[in-house]
Amino acid sequence: MMGGVTDKVHNYFDGDQSMRGILSEQKKSASKHGFWRCLVCTYENDGSLSSCYICGVFKDSFDGWINKGENQVGICEHSTSVMAKALFAGMPHQVPFRFDTLSPDDIVSLGRKKTKDHLATAIPATISSSSTDEKEVVKILAEHDDPETSSALSSHLNGNRSNNLGINDNESEILVSKIHHLKLDKKIKNIKKVMSPSQYKPEKWILSEQQQETKSQLNIAIVGHVDSGKSTLCGRLLHLLGKISKKEIHKYQKEAKEKGKGSFAFAWAMDETAEERERGITMTVAIAYFESKKYRVVLLDSPGHKDFVSNMISGSTQADAAILLVDASKGSFEAGMGFHDVGQTKEHAQLIRSFGVEQIVVAVNKMDTVGYSQERFNYIKSQLAAFLRSCGFKETLITWIPLSAMDNQNVVTSASNDHLSWYHGLCLLDAIDSLYPPERDVLKPLLMPVCDVVSSHSLGQVAACGKLEAGAIRHGSKVPLGPFISILLMIFCCDSLNYVQVLIMPSGDLATIRSIERDCQACLSARAGDNVAVSLQGTDVSNLVPSAVICHPDFPVTVADILELKILVLDVKMPILLGSHVEFHIHHAKEAAQVTKIVSLLDQKKAKTSKIAPRLLTARQSATIEVSLERPVCVEEFSSCRTLGRAFLRCSGITIAVGIVTRIIFADEQ
Ligand code: GTP
Ligand code: MG
Repeated sequence: MMGGVTDKVHNYFDGDQSMRGILSEQKKSASKHGFWRCLVCTYENDGSLSSCYICGVFKDSFDGWINKGENQVGICEHSTSVMAKALFAGMPHQVPFRFDTLSPDDIVSLGRKKTKDHLATAIPATISSSSTDEKEVVKILAEHDDPETSSALSSHLNGNRSNNLGINDNESEILVSKIHHLKLDKKIKNIKKVMSPSQYKPEKWILSEQQQETKSQLNIAIVGHVDSGKSTLCGRLLHLLGKISKKEIHKYQKEAKEKGKGSFAFAWAMDETAEERERGITMTVAIAYFESKKYRVVLLDSPGHKDFVSNMISGSTQADAAILLVDASKGSFEAGMGFHDVGQTKEHAQLIRSFGVEQIVVAVNKMDTVGYSQERFNYIKSQLAAFLRSCGFKETLITWIPLSAMDNQNVVTSASNDHLSWYHGLCLLDAIDSLYPPERDVLKPLLMPVCDVVSSHSLGQVAACGKLEAGAIRHGSKVPLGPFISILLMIFCCDSLNYVQVLIMPSGDLATIRSIERDCQACLSARAGDNVAVSLQGTDVSNLVPSAVICHPDFPVTVADILELKILVLDVKMPILLGSHVEFHIHHAKEAAQVTKIVSLLDQKKAKTSKIAPRLLTARQSATIEVSLERPVCVEEFSSCRTLGRAFLRCSGITIAVGIVTRIIFADEQ
């Protein structure tokens, strides 16, 4: 991947004589005034300094570089950067560059980091020749059951110190690759937090940006039973707000009509895949953006079909508020309530509440099919209100709106239809603006559960999409860089200098942020609550999967496979038994799991815990249980992070329990 970028730039500069001229010009002008300008970071250093104050590049290293052969301007022998070459100039054995091992640039970048708890930092320690750090590596290798490598390294440290590190090229390569393997091994192990989030001190730029007033983002999940009109309502809303042009709507109408699906024209704005259009159902969560008077709104249009509840869970866990769409037509409302079977109006409402959503707008859609009957609206309201209360929604935080997405009634303006004159409440857009803004954990360490991953082969990068649950990220320079220097950095892969690094869990990989997109537009920074696509470089696509979590390198998220949960069993026909196999959902992760212990039964009314552990759990019971997952997931206790501490158990296509993680159990605590 890196090769692609390097090749492109290499060709661009091949035979370009002017490059060399520019470099020597810059050097001349800089040295005139008793200071010299670093050609990597442009910092103007005092003449007495032999290396750059900011990035550490040796002043003299530019001489050799500029005096290279005509066709090799700017390209080092082993494709390593000027900075790396300069730092390694004093070493007797130069480490050759290979894509599958750490390059000198990687070592430089890792060495500049202060992450102590991350295994990768052991690598620069070996290079820096500090004896304490070297011993640390031996300790880490020994801890990871690799006596062979640790004893080899310790004999080198004790015996051959006169020859710098005393390790030849081959041995150093073996060591680096062994450490790499150890790092990969972490994938299957549980990872405990080393530093507490309370030790985190937000960077200055986060504090200063927090004072700037901008419209805050509100993520709204549109949920409800299949065919209730969720996608049609989203399409209509976007069209009325000018996000979808008349021309586009005409195109959808024409194409939908040709396929015999004329009524789905507005839904096609959200249902983009051929299969979704063919079947007339949404299968994955579609995202759309618009601005209201008060918010930058992100609409998460969920699938209503029962086969895609797990997709609905994955997308809607990002929600700050929800619009529950109910189909008013005869029989359809009843189906959604599960009068005859499992209904997704109920299931979605229950899930949304357990995601922590407190504010809900109940949009009673398709009112045109019941002649805008107030009686029908009141009936639906009375039936559903009781259920929503039982889920834990407060009456004051529920807004009820009768509307018709198809007839454009009560969507962005008050209804024009005389039959709706009995309704004097808010239209949908005003109801959205009446929601209160959610609290954001901007001053906590970065946490971004990955919802989706897209790869851009042309750039050799992958982009992770999701909502920032805590902290903030930015793309950008740590030092002021001109376009010229940026190109140089691109050639020599000095990513660590120019870009911000993040940690990807559970793989433990470090990656650099290359760009950030919010609401489909490039931006320089994003903060908790924002829904973003972040393009990352330096990590393997296979490590970046929906369920991974991007975090601050010094504050890795916990990774575990045995958890204690406090659950509420939903209206299930089959009881949950000790040993039951279930599907475990947490943020965007889904894992096979087994109930290994029913610890106690909780009596919610008396707030008491039973002394005897029951052998099975039936509908509406609340209990503390232990589950063992097939593979570890990124998780936090609910008390420290709500989003990463909410869990759902599903079985045979239905949600059987909702709950929270009360304890993370590590092997040494069992
Ligand atoms: P899933 O995503 O598959 O759960 O469906 P959905 O809730 O997104 O429903 P969708 O928008 O695909 O619409 C389903 C059908 O309902 C389409 O034929 C729409 O034309 C129709 N529909 C949507 N809103 C209205 C409405 O206000 N009135 C009437 N009469 N039909 C509507
Ligand atoms: Mg839909």
